[in-house]
Amino acid sequence: MEYDFLALGSGIAGLTFALNVASHGSVAVLTKKQRSESNTNYAQGGIAAAIGADDSWEQHLQDTLVAGAGLCDRDAAEVLVKNGPRLVYWLVELGAQFDRNPDGSLALGREGGHSRNRIVHAADHTGYEIERTLLIAARKTPHITILEHYQALDLIIEGGVCVGVQVLDTLTGDLFEIRAKAILLATGGCGQVYLHTSNPLIATGDGLGMAWRAGAVIANMEFIQFHPTTLYHTDAPSFLISEAVRGEGGILRRADGYRFMPDYDPRAELAPRDIVARAIDAELKKTGDPCVYLDITHLDAEFIKRRFPTIYHTCLQYGIDITREPIPVVPAAHYACGGVWTDLNGRTTIPHLYACGEVAYTGVHGANRLASNSLLEALVFAERAAQHATTRLEEPPPQPKPSCIALSLPPPAPASQIDESAFNWDAQRLQIRKIMQKKVGIVRTVQRLQEARCELEQIAAQIEAAYRATSPTVESCEVRNIAACALLITHSALARRESRGLHYVLDYPETRPELAAYPTLIYPR
Ligand code: FAD
Ligand code: SIN
Repeated sequence: MEYDFLALGSGIAGLTFALNVASHGSVAVLTKKQRSESNTNYAQGGIAAAIGADDSWEQHLQDTLVAGAGLCDRDAAEVLVKNGPRLVYWLVELGAQFDRNPDGSLALGREGGHSRNRIVHAADHTGYEIERTLLIAARKTPHITILEHYQALDLIIEGGVCVGVQVLDTLTGDLFEIRAKAILLATGGCGQVYLHTSNPLIATGDGLGMAWRAGAVIANMEFIQFHPTTLYHTDAPSFLISEAVRGEGGILRRADGYRFMPDYDPRAELAPRDIVARAIDAELKKTGDPCVYLDITHLDAEFIKRRFPTIYHTCLQYGIDITREPIPVVPAAHYACGGVWTDLNGRTTIPHLYACGEVAYTGVHGANRLASNSLLEALVFAERAAQHATTRLEEPPPQPKPSCIALSLPPPAPASQIDESAFNWDAQRLQIRKIMQKKVGIVRTVQRLQEARCELEQIAAQIEAAYRATSPTVESCEVRNIAACALLITHSALARRESRGLHYVLDYPETRPELAAYPTLIYPR
């Protein structure tokens, strides 16, 4: 199969790219499950844009830089916030039904780290609304073909240029190639690397694994954002309780009813996520309790049901009426701030290969992403990647500025001996996720990181050997990529000898000012 453009992933990044290149040639959008299954589809709180009368792009920029703890790329963050309002209105023009005020203007919510109300939302199912809108637009646009149940396995690099991708048809098991002039990685995040995550099952870091094996530069993988509030319930997978709940006045309490956040930060429940997640972690360690509680029972019950219908109904399924009782919550892995290094046009270091959305590192998030900046990042940089791919594809690829935190790390080599007939992919997946949860989580130590690196290197070598000895399957591809991401995160965490934003190491509790503005770069060897 051959197309002009190929987007790997049908979330907000892949679809925005496809819609913007479609007038220049044929486009295939590849997706490993059905078309709507993506992190985008589950986004709750909303999309940040400085459109309020009391707001400005400068203020949005300032909040983004503060949350990023000195590590944002200022140029990229400026591109993000300046283009935000225009692209939110582009979604509205495409048909997105966001909540409105009685006067017809867009209703703006508040989330942690934002000094203004600037979160455009559709109740608590903003991502579903965006995904629905983009899929309808893609269906109406000539030249876009969406290929479902096709899993990308590895990039095809010829003469140093990315020319396509190897694909597994997950329904038939067939293997084949798809080639294109420009290829976009839009495969989303890697939350499934952790045992507890807000992310759906698709988030196995496939794009990161593929890009690393192909020789792209990877950046800032130590900065994994833990969302402070996912539902704690023995029968529920980690279901997100949106930050917008705290934005509307939700209060975090211990089991004994004590409101603890003012002890940690003057912004209390609306402090940036890293601070809230660490505070909860500290309270849980102090009390030995399994969870804390998010209390909105002081709000009007009808308002709660209207503003948070998904959260209300989901919690009710688990026997929790959030209008009457506090919600048990724990932090869970939510978002990768790092990813495949890109320039301001979504270009990676490999010619003809672009990356956008959660798989990419653009520099906008620095050491901690400001809430609701992620959907926006995907929109803004996918549009720019499309503009570049349709007009300036043949330019030589960019390289990152040198950083004093740089590693040269080859993808895992296969172990010399394994018994592939006894190889259990699910057991390997579980083991990696447990190691990451226990040793590379919210609060890190050098010793735990070193142990994790050692264990993960052995597991990854076994996985590589088993992968090469067998025909690829959905499981084997995903586990190989989960192992790759686990290694990238752990090596990056060991390389950054300071605490900053989401990366908190007990052995190095201070932020080192001389490391500000230096991302952690992983070069291929
Ligand atoms: P995704 O939307 O995850 O799409 C990835 C696509 O790639 C999917 O189609 C997937 O099937 C496909 N794919 C993956 N691997 C392969 C492969 N090997 N082959 C083929 N296809 C593949 N951000 C905000 O800004 N605001 C919010 O309110 C918000 N809420 C969130 C709530 C939840 C529960 C979660 C999990 C995330 C939330 N985020 C939010 C983060 C945000 O949703 C994501 O960062 C963003 O949607 C990522 O978009 P994307 O297009 O990069 O990737
Ligand atoms: C949320 O609704 O809390 C998620 C927002 C985000 O991840 O940006």
